[in-house]
Amino acid sequence: MRYLSVSSDPDTAQVSRIGLGTSQFGASQWGYGESYAGQEARAIVRRALELGVTLFDTAELYGFGRSERILGQALGQDRAAVFLATKILPILPVAPVVEQRAVASANRLGVRRLDLYQVHQPNPVVKDQAIMRGMRALQRVGLVGEVGVSNYTLDRWRAAEQALGSRVPSNQVQYSLVTRSPERELVPFAESTGHLVIAYSPLAQGLLSGRYDRDHRPANRIRAANPLFLPENLERAGELMATLREVADAHSATPAQIALAWVIHSPAVVAIPGASSVAQVESNAAAADIDLTDDEYQALSEASARFRPLTGAAAVPRLVRARLG
Ligand SMILES: NC(=O)c1ccc[n+]([C@@H]2O[C@H](COP(=O)([O-])OP(=O)(O)OC[C@H]3O[C@@H](n4cnc5c(N)ncnc54)[C@H](OP(=O)(O)O)[C@@H]3O)[C@@H](O)[C@H]2O)c1
Repeated sequence: MRYLSVSSDPDTAQVSRIGLGTSQFGASQWGYGESYAGQEARAIVRRALELGVTLFDTAELYGFGRSERILGQALGQDRAAVFLATKILPILPVAPVVEQRAVASANRLGVRRLDLYQVHQPNPVVKDQAIMRGMRALQRVGLVGEVGVSNYTLDRWRAAEQALGSRVPSNQVQYSLVTRSPERELVPFAESTGHLVIAYSPLAQGLLSGRYDRDHRPANRIRAANPLFLPENLERAGELMATLREVADAHSATPAQIALAWVIHSPAVVAIPGASSVAQVESNAAAADIDLTDDEYQALSEASARFRPLTGAAAVPRLVRARLG
């Protein structure tokens, strides 16, 4: 495993370049069922710890608090040794509400301190001055270590930092071989200023594992609503998958591992893949140690640029048809 430092506080754990995303824990839209929420999720967390994963990401939204509870229980006494990140949904971003929500998240996780408390997405109406007042108070009393943001543009990330009056070290955004917009501004900014991009959905919800094709589509709700899993798009992803497989063969690795190695190629990026099994968390953690050559990185980037999935309005009728039939 490889690590980065996010906090200057020597008591805060370093961040593993591959973390664990836990939106799957106790959330019905992934369709993994009760035995996953009750047993497999715990086994995944325990194995992640053994493999040196320190970054665990959750949110009050996931399973409406259930993910935080499952994660906190699974970590047990190891809670203090990891870098715990959760998120607040800024629906009513005024200081007293922010403070109360942080306490509720900490209670569900069973901790006295949230290492990273992230604003889940920018509030489109209320500027960040309001929420950051609450965040400052939480930092003052030590309930929150670092304040992060998620799904923020660069301008809004900078504005959030001004509103907080101190560093907002991370922005958690969707970033993978099929979603590359963070490369335009966020990743260069993070690289040049010592900030961090936390890549979510780094496997494009499993598309980049190569497990799925036109005749084998995933059956859960979250991916039924994702146009990437339309039969036509799975077919269009063929060339990208072939390149992933070719690079994977050269490293005796899997396409999923190469997709993760590609995402964390920049030293300012860490990734938080979710996992449906212990085997997946093992495979994902090992990806932190894969070094792609410049030629491999280039070949993957070029194949990804040629992948043009059907999205937006053009995808809607097909999504409805796929859902019905
Ligand atoms: N901030 C935000 O707004 C936001 C939004 C979304 C997610 N997130 C965070 O990011 C995390 C990860 O994103 P995500 O779960 O959406 O997508 P992801 O990590 O790209 O995909 C996870 C899925 O890929 C499959 N997979 C994982 N490892 C694999 C492996 N080694 N081999 C083959 N398949 C593998 C599993 O599904 P199957 O086995 O069922 O195929 C797994 O559930 C979430 O858990 C959450 O913490 C944040």
